[in-house]
Amino acid sequence: MATPVNVGMIGYGFMGRAHTNGYKRCPDFFPELDHQPVLKAACARSKDKIQAFADQWGYESIETDWRALIARDDIDAVDICVPNNLHKEIAIAAAEAGKMILCEKPLAMNTAEGEIMCQAVEKAGVANTVWYNYRRVPAVTLAKQVIESGALGRIFHYRANFLQDWTISEDLPQGGEALWRLDAEAAGSGVTGDLLAHCIDTAIWLNGTIADVTAMTETFIKERVHQATGEKTKVTIDDACSFLCHFSNGSLGLFESTRYARGHKAMNTFEINGSEMSLRWDLHDLHRLEVFDNKDEGALRGWKSVHVSDHGGEHPYMDKWWVPGLQIGYEHSFVHHVADFMKSLDEGNECGPTFRDALETQKVCDAVLNSAKAHSWENV
Ligand SMILES: NC(=O)c1ccc[n+]([C@@H]2O[C@H](COP(=O)([O-])OP(=O)(O)OC[C@H]3O[C@@H](n4cnc5c(N)ncnc54)[C@H](O)[C@@H]3O)[C@@H](O)[C@H]2O)c1
Repeated sequence: MATPVNVGMIGYGFMGRAHTNGYKRCPDFFPELDHQPVLKAACARSKDKIQAFADQWGYESIETDWRALIARDDIDAVDICVPNNLHKEIAIAAAEAGKMILCEKPLAMNTAEGEIMCQAVEKAGVANTVWYNYRRVPAVTLAKQVIESGALGRIFHYRANFLQDWTISEDLPQGGEALWRLDAEAAGSGVTGDLLAHCIDTAIWLNGTIADVTAMTETFIKERVHQATGEKTKVTIDDACSFLCHFSNGSLGLFESTRYARGHKAMNTFEINGSEMSLRWDLHDLHRLEVFDNKDEGALRGWKSVHVSDHGGEHPYMDKWWVPGLQIGYEHSFVHHVADFMKSLDEGNECGPTFRDALETQKVCDAVLNSAKAHSWENV
C-alpha cells in the first residue's frame, strides 16, 4: 500500500490539466514508488467550472477559495497552476500551513517576491519544486548526463530560442481569462518570464550560472483593448526579447524569444558547443538529441540524430514506457516530474528545480528586463 500524497490543485487551465494527467499516470507507470499522488481536491473561483473539471478528471472534491483548500487537514501538497501574480500569496500561505508545494513557473513576478517565497518554504521545511518541465524530456535529461560526463570538453557557446506567433493581431485583447499573459499586472513580464524563463532554467541546469546579460526588448503593439474594462490601454509586457550573456564557466550565451515569429507555434531549441562535442535539441522533435562528436573520423563524420527511446537504463525514463524505438511526448515531462517528486519524498531528497533553484532563473529574468530598460550590461 503506497503512502498517499493528497493533492490540492489550484487552477484547471492548461497546466491544471497537464499536471493532473501527470498525477494520474504516475502510479501506473512508476508503481515502485512508495509515495503516490491522490487527486483530493481541485479549486477555482467558479463552482460550476471546477465541479466539471473535478468530475472529468477524477478529483474527490472541490473548493472555490484557495484559502479554504489550504486550510484543509486532508491536503498534503498544494499545486499552484494559476497566473503568476497569485503564486507568491498562495505559496506563502501553503508553506505556513505546512503543505508541500508544486508551483508553476516562473516562480514569481520578480526576484524580490521569489526571495520571500524561498524563505517561506525553507522556514517551514516543506518539500517544494517548480514545474520547469523541459528538464524531464528524456533527450534533455540525456544532454545533461552527457554534459556532466565532461564529453563536451571546454564549453564555448550556448544558444536557445523560444518562438511563437499568436499575438501578431492588433485585435487580440489583453488581460483576463486566457489572455492574462498579455497583462504585466498578472504575468509580471511578457516573453521573458513566460518563454525565456524555460530556456534560462534549462541553460543554467546544463551549463551553469549566468554572470551578466545585455538585452533588448520590444513591444510591437503599443495598445490593446483590456478584457476587464473594454478600454484600450497601454501594453506593458515585452513582446520580444533577445539577450547576450556570459556564463560563469566563461562560455557565451545567445537567447531569443518572441510571440511575433510568423509560423512558429512553440519553437523551443537549444544548442551547446564544446571543444570536443556539440549537442542540439528541438521541442518539435523532442525525442531526438542531435550530436556532433569530434572523435568520429572519416567520410561519414557529421551530426547524428539519436532517437532517445532505448531501454536498459541508457536513455533516461524510457524503461518506464513502451518498447525500444517507440517515442513519448510533451505530456510525459509532467509525468516524470510528478514521479521524481514522489521519489524525492521516498528518499528524503529535494526535487529540483526547487524554489531556490528557480530563483536563479528569476534573477536572470530581472537582469534581462533591467538591461533592456537601461541599455546596459547588468550583473545577475
Ligand atoms: N511549465 C509550462 O510549460 C507552463 C506552460 C503554461 C503555463 N505555465 C504556467 O502555469 C501557470 C498557469 O498557466 P495556464 O496556462 O495553466 O493558465 P490558464 O489561463 O490556462 O489557467 C489559469 C487557471 O487559473 C485559475 N485562476 C485564476 N485566478 C484564480 C484564483 N484567484 N483562484 C483560483 N483559481 C484561479 C483560472 O480559473 C484557470 O483555471 C502560469 O504561472 C504559467 O506561467 C507553465
